[in-house]
Amino acid sequence: MNQPILELQQIGKNFGTVIALSGVSFKLMAGQVHCLLGDNGAGKSTLIKILSGVHRPDHGDYLVDGKGVDFASPNQALDNGIATVYQDLALAPLLSVARNFVLGREPLKNRFGFLPVMDLDLAASIAREGMARMGITLRNTEQMVGTMSGGERQCLAIARAVHFGARVLILDEPTAALGVKQSANVLRLVKRAQASGISVILITHNVNHAFPVADHFTLLNRGKSMGSFAKSETSMAELLDMMAGGAEMKRLMADLEGVTI
Ligand SMILES: Nc1ncnc2c1ncn2[C@@H]1O[C@H](COP(=O)(O)OP(=O)(O)O)[C@@H](O)[C@H]1O
Ligand SMILES: [Mg+2]
Repeated sequence: MNQPILELQQIGKNFGTVIALSGVSFKLMAGQVHCLLGDNGAGKSTLIKILSGVHRPDHGDYLVDGKGVDFASPNQALDNGIATVYQDLALAPLLSVARNFVLGREPLKNRFGFLPVMDLDLAASIAREGMARMGITLRNTEQMVGTMSGGERQCLAIARAVHFGARVLILDEPTAALGVKQSANVLRLVKRAQASGISVILITHNVNHAFPVADHFTLLNRGKSMGSFAKSETSMAELLDMMAGGAEMKRLMADLEGVTI
């Protein structure tokens, strides 16, 4: 059980002359909620795009269940149970909740005995059950996703990934655009996913959001790892301090000391 589900060893990724990641190692253990912290531009999205098969690393190794992999597409990562919910959610705003829930895996039935069409009743019940499993009661499966709040959309995307068999759920800044209450709902779902046996990578630059739900933290700064820490080994204050913003803010405050405005 001590083998990581996912592991990156000494990963490097460049975009032209930009070094997005350099010598980054990362381990996700089974059942963990692992938070990836870092300021804007630190390389968080690039790291998870490597994990989810969007990008191939230029250097280093990627292992799933201890075996080397080289994903050429997000579908290959999905086939390995690695599901990613991106900041810009891949949901269709003009379609209903039910249709979005089954998007890409629509249940079919035969009309007139031979014409395959989507089974809308089945789609609605799959959506209702999938959301219920995550503790959400869907009142109207016909509601258009475009009219849902950002938090509700995040919850739908997470419930959908869990329903379709994710072993690893990767969430890129799921609370970035949300208010306090909606953020709490999304973070509750993270714990719920963990309780149902899923390992989670949670990307954020908000330590306040990360600390209550995560077991482990990895800090990225300008494409480099500043280390991984178990929750018991660190504190919210220490993490804040280690993040670039914390250190720079401290210097700024020191510079301002004695200044009268
Ligand atoms: N597709 C891309 N093309 C060129 N540069 C990119 C691309 N993706 C990311 N970068 C650059 O890589 C660096 C890390 O970006 P990113 O991984 O998005 O950081 P984060 O998610 O932590 O904000 C940034 O300097 C960004 O501009
Ligand atoms: Mg990002």
